[in-house]
Amino acid sequence: MALSDKDRIFTNLYGTQPWNLQAAQMRGDWDGTAGFIGKGRDWVIEEVKNSGLRGRGGAGFPTGMKWSFMPKQSDGRPAYLVVNADESEPGTCKDRDIIRHDPQKLIEGCLIAGFAMNAVAGYIYIRGEYYNEAMVLEAAIDEAYEAGLLGKNAAGSGYDFDLYVHRGAGAYICGEETALIESLEGKKGMPRLKPPFPAAVGLYGCPTTVNNVETIAVVPTILRRGAGWFSGFGRPKNAGTKVFCISGHVNKPCNVEAEMSIPLRELIDRYAGGVRGGWDNLLAVIPGGSSVPLLPKHICDDVLMDFDALREHKSGLGTAGVIVMDKSTDVVRAIARLAHFYKHESCGQCTPCREGTGWMKRVMDRMVRGEAEIEEIDVLEQVTRQVEGHTICALGDAAAWPIQGLIRHFRPEMERRILERQGRPMPLAAE
Ligand SMILES: Cc1cc2nc3c(=O)[nH]c(=O)nc-3n(C[C@H](O)[C@H](O)[C@H](O)COP(=O)(O)O)c2cc1C
Ligand code: SF4
Repeated sequence: MALSDKDRIFTNLYGTQPWNLQAAQMRGDWDGTAGFIGKGRDWVIEEVKNSGLRGRGGAGFPTGMKWSFMPKQSDGRPAYLVVNADESEPGTCKDRDIIRHDPQKLIEGCLIAGFAMNAVAGYIYIRGEYYNEAMVLEAAIDEAYEAGLLGKNAAGSGYDFDLYVHRGAGAYICGEETALIESLEGKKGMPRLKPPFPAAVGLYGCPTTVNNVETIAVVPTILRRGAGWFSGFGRPKNAGTKVFCISGHVNKPCNVEAEMSIPLRELIDRYAGGVRGGWDNLLAVIPGGSSVPLLPKHICDDVLMDFDALREHKSGLGTAGVIVMDKSTDVVRAIARLAHFYKHESCGQCTPCREGTGWMKRVMDRMVRGEAEIEEIDVLEQVTRQVEGHTICALGDAAAWPIQGLIRHFRPEMERRILERQGRPMPLAAE
């Protein structure tokens, strides 16, 4: 059954109404905020835990638990909330629509999340290319200050909280939480070794939690409607509604807020106008932004769109950027293009990633042309295993996984090209 409009959190996702404070308040934002804060930190964290909310930035870490890692008592250092609006994952454009059409949801969420982690201030780190969105966000924050919703005694809650926007310069790696913190501090965006984790030593050496835009923006509605309402959507451990970004070979590419665990086929058919040329014309789908392995059609036929179902198929929900490829796609070339992206975006500080991404890209380029030996497919697979899990940050994994998915599901296509190039026709598959 389709999610009904009354159960949608982002009621202005398409910008049909103004984004300004007055319109946002008409949509229910900032209703009872001081009351939630009045119930105390532990109550807010418990509600978020009970809602089952998992981070919307890619890794799906439980949000309430993450907030509970922040120190209960300050040792003299201030604490910070950092919101990740870097959104550079190919195929992902949901935070952008939240910011440009519904910014007050994010701002109210920042106040509540900041309070729950005892933060004195929040920083929203937005990718440089989102210039117009940064302007909207700045203006929305100004409106919130003028209305007394931020700053001293924010929203009449007795809690003081400041919120700042920081524009990045357009590096994918600055979306990784510790690289983002380095960049906020004015340094090169290079990931830090963990531990220590940001909750212990984060921004300016102080306790910090980094959360995705969507994660923070859904919190006020969860508190208003109750943890049980949110956890009522999706399967256990995969709760809530979720904004999916559907692009590629569909008739109507779109962002849509739907119920978690919706079947992939229903998501595409109901909201994106179906696959170009019909469902049988589908070749594969990358279900969670470019960093997760692609799924061939036979898995797409009935897979559910949530963290656990996609993991069972050795892929992931990631950012929920659903990239649809029909049968006209040169799938080897598509994955080679992603290999190029990861090589370009590697920060270069660890050897397996710096060298491995370049190596994988060069081999993938040859695979596109079939200029390789059959055995090199295995060598390529082994190299991805040597990069995966052997680097400081998850960009190494993100570079390895799409290629692993290609080899797992489209190896015959890779072999066909090599044999064709060598003038040896591919043996016919047994009927
Ligand atoms: C290379 C790389 C890029 C990332 N880019 C983003 C991003 O643009 N936005 C985001 O929210 N998280 C991104 N992440 C994930 C963050 O490190 C972090 O897990 C996330 O912001 C946590 O928020 P959440 O708990 O609300 O999901 C990226 C991770 C990696 C390894
Ligand atoms: S994995 Fe890649 S991007 Fe991440 S720290 Fe190492 S070199 Fe930099």
